Amino acid sequence: MLTTKRKVASSFKNGDGAKTKFQQLEANREDAVNLLTTNQGLQISDNHNSLKAGPRGPTLMEDFVLREKLTHFAHERIPERAVYARGSGAHGFFKPYKSMAPYTTAGFLQDPGIETPVFVRFSSIAGQAGSADTVRDVRGFAVKFYTQQGNYDLVGNNIPVFFVQDAIKFPDLIHSLKPEPQCGMPQASSGHDTFWDFASLMPESTHMLMWTMSDRAVPRSFRMMEGFGVHAFKFVNAGGDAHFVKFHWKPKLGVHALAWDEAQKIAGKDPDFHRRDLWDAIESGNFPEWELGVQIIDAGKEGELGFDILDPTKLIPESQVPVQLIGRLTLNRNPDNFFAETEQIAFHPGHLVPGIDFSNDPLLQGRLFSYSDTQRSRLGGANFHEIPINRSVCPMHNFQRDGVHRQAILKGRVAYEPNTLGNGSEFRIDGAAQGFKGLSEPIESPKTRGRNLSFDDHFSQATLFWNSQSNAEKDHIVSAFRFELSKVEQANIRQRVVDNLAHVDMKLASRVAATLGISAPDPKAAAGRLGFKDHRILNKLEEEPSLRMPIKPGTHVKTRRVAVLIADGIEPATVKRLQLDLASAGAVCKTVSNQLGSVSTAGGRQMQVDHTFCTMPSVMFDAIIIPGGAPHIEALRAMGDAVHFVMEAYKHCKPICAVNEGVELLASLGFALGKNLEIVVTPTAGVILADSRKVMDGQVSQDFIAAMALHRHWDRPNINSIAA
Ligand code: HEM
Repeated sequence: MLTTKRKVASSFKNGDGAKTKFQQLEANREDAVNLLTTNQGLQISDNHNSLKAGPRGPTLMEDFVLREKLTHFAHERIPERAVYARGSGAHGFFKPYKSMAPYTTAGFLQDPGIETPVFVRFSSIAGQAGSADTVRDVRGFAVKFYTQQGNYDLVGNNIPVFFVQDAIKFPDLIHSLKPEPQCGMPQASSGHDTFWDFASLMPESTHMLMWTMSDRAVPRSFRMMEGFGVHAFKFVNAGGDAHFVKFHWKPKLGVHALAWDEAQKIAGKDPDFHRRDLWDAIESGNFPEWELGVQIIDAGKEGELGFDILDPTKLIPESQVPVQLIGRLTLNRNPDNFFAETEQIAFHPGHLVPGIDFSNDPLLQGRLFSYSDTQRSRLGGANFHEIPINRSVCPMHNFQRDGVHRQAILKGRVAYEPNTLGNGSEFRIDGAAQGFKGLSEPIESPKTRGRNLSFDDHFSQATLFWNSQSNAEKDHIVSAFRFELSKVEQANIRQRVVDNLAHVDMKLASRVAATLGISAPDPKAAAGRLGFKDHRILNKLEEEPSLRMPIKPGTHVKTRRVAVLIADGIEPATVKRLQLDLASAGAVCKTVSNQLGSVSTAGGRQMQVDHTFCTMPSVMFDAIIIPGGAPHIEALRAMGDAVHFVMEAYKHCKPICAVNEGVELLASLGFALGKNLEIVVTPTAGVILADSRKVMDGQVSQDFIAAMALHRHWDRPNINSIAA
């Protein structure tokens, strides 16, 4: 193994870094072959019949072929992760834009010519490994950089803050969130009594609750979410100067969400929605990309932030400390084997390289212990670093020995340091100039189990977050609180939550309380409860625009999925034009009808059906086209599934393009749209009414693509009145 590693490391130079891990893994890959042997290499002659005493007799114990096969099968499962069990991963590479040498000696951040191989795993926290992708939850965003100085893991989330301030509360948080122990329900959902019981008694979770009740917790795709290191870390440069740093990942596709109703429906229709999206994007060559951002805090200036930089329930507003974009992450290869790679990878926030260090954030400090501890039991012993996906690409050697499933065959008599028997001269590692050295800093105070007063502000940034949201985002947050709390059986828990929310914003709390059958929110009651702290800082900002899900008028719609509703009598010319234009913009158009096969066009030709309404409902698409053709529209109108498809897409605020008689279908379904086919409704409304002429001159495609680039049109009026 070491020989392979050394060989690979020596080829690790500018421009081919991303290939390095690929080459290393190659030593363990096996192609599919038409050969069947036992684990000892003995060729098997019959894989259909066990060894029996006569053709109708009992099976014999001596059938070692059968025994080996059944035994291996019975042992093929390993424990899933205690948290973040549901996940999907991919390989890729990272390239810095510029040298970060003024701040850090980290080798992979020194030279824009160096590509560092990475493996990234996205996940959700609460559900089991088989749970649905689109549940309301935080998403994990864990990146392993296989650098020339060892593996560096940035193990973050898609939300920049966390529920609790101290690691000692993490098991309590997770026990409250996971299915309730007496009944094992609910799966992958925070909508139950124990979670809200805990959260309502832990006001420090309020800021995080605002985020998890926002659209951030229902991402459209892993490719369209931000990532955050959450804790403050430290960059250390060659002179030993340290700066606090917060890490960000900014997706090139923008930050986009699903509608909550849609997310729940997808969980049933396609529980692998996010996994499939990531896989398909990479397979089709649409490699997802993020930019790595850093907020670097000038030495000694952390005291000016207005809050404690060590408190993981706080973020640093980008208006206070701008995010510098310092490099690009590209995911360009799906794993060959989900178990061997995605399941067996072991991340750890304590896997550092020289030039990056921890802070004293008490949540981070606890994490430093927890990951390798759990991995020893999840991955079956002390040698999980030897599993191919976990191996570093630079040379690795130490005198740790033995243990279950040890792979390396270390030669010689020396398993200790210092020694002279290794190669004849003294080998001693005792303060060498090279290698990782923790930052030397004074430790200030006596041992204590307390928390600093600076951690007692639990509401100010929750208020900042609320104030920064658009009206549509605020509506979604209110609906999410109402949804979750409506599932909480005990009224006193619901009451405690809204009493706490009154300290964020009274309007928010009152709107949430209004549908929950409880009293009006009472901030005084909250303040009187044990555990309530109220050392409120003053936000330096009224609002922070970067906390809104950025709605940038995107320039492209690559990989967006568009449904074209078709039935007999469809007018094909405009469909073809739209399909061509959308395909050249990178969108994926699929025809949908009530059965597979084909439909007859107005001109008597056949048009292929890709999907049925039943198997690929509107929630599986980003936008829809209702083409023209009078008999076609009549046929669609008679299909309940087609009508539901349109109503639902409208309700989920998706772009809709209706052509000719397609407009009449919309009008007949009760949408208050202009009926004059000369008018093309403005693209920002997200509904485009078109006639053939405008389709054929390309204007409609342009408008539709612009509407799709905005993703959703959340301000669409009266969606609650839509029955879908
Ligand atoms: C004291 C607090 C925490 C503890 C004790 C803890 C513990 C754990 C454990 C035991 C796992 C399973 C690891 C495995 O089996 O390989 C895990 C996974 C994970 N944790 Fe934490 N965690 C904590 C806080 C956090 C925070 C604040 C974040 C985000 C900044 C985070 C991000 C993740 C991610 C992304 C994974 C999944 C890694 C993967 O994809 O394999 N955790 N955590």
